[in-house]
Amino acid sequence: MQFFIDTANIDDIREAFSWGIIDGVTTNPSLIAREGGDFIQRIADICEIVEGPVSAETVSQDAEGMIREGRLLAKISEHIVVKVPLTTEGLKATKVLSGEGIDCNVTLCFQPMQALIAAKAGAAYISPFLGRLDDISTDGVGLIEQIVQIYSNYPELNTKVLSASIRHPMHLTQVALAGSHVATIPYGVLKKLVNHPLTDSGNARFLKDWESVPDNNITAQVERWLAARDS
Ligand code: E4P
Repeated sequence: MQFFIDTANIDDIREAFSWGIIDGVTTNPSLIAREGGDFIQRIADICEIVEGPVSAETVSQDAEGMIREGRLLAKISEHIVVKVPLTTEGLKATKVLSGEGIDCNVTLCFQPMQALIAAKAGAAYISPFLGRLDDISTDGVGLIEQIVQIYSNYPELNTKVLSASIRHPMHLTQVALAGSHVATIPYGVLKKLVNHPLTDSGNARFLKDWESVPDNNITAQVERWLAARDS
């Protein structure tokens, strides 16, 4: 499963990317508004750091406007994926932009047939929002399972399932088991993926035991050993 980071915060993107686990980035107008500053420069900076798919969302509500904005956004970098909402206008824009070779991420998907029609329109990615479904007592992970199953029934569809609105590590385990191609993850959730109390206590124990080893400077030992071997 590919990991995208769901933020427009440059520091968080840079840090998570340095861990070697980030394949792309998703942004949306709310995330961009939270950071402030120049939207276009921010998107360009993100593309420089990640060099993978970077979703930038259009804000026009008519297909013509989405297509115009999408074509312009795509000029920023070859990594841009144009994000459009799952509306009839968004479908029209997806058909035109994907026909021009511009990848589209169709967002705000909440039921399986929305995912199927987005794929038929040529979406490169479909973004089902599982956390927002869970918020209203509906099974978000179940939606991912259904979309993955429907897409796999029709291998001619080339749309990737991009699980969005992830709230916690269990969501990631569940969508990975469901076969989601991608998950887009807030930085706070990414940090939680690393942590386990047994990792911390195990590491502390190894360090403590290592202190009792005589001559326990690994660098000096290896350098001495290599020098002896190569002399
Ligand atoms: C996806 O691309 C969206 O940016 C995001 O996952 C929305 O998540 P939220 O429900 O936490 O706002």
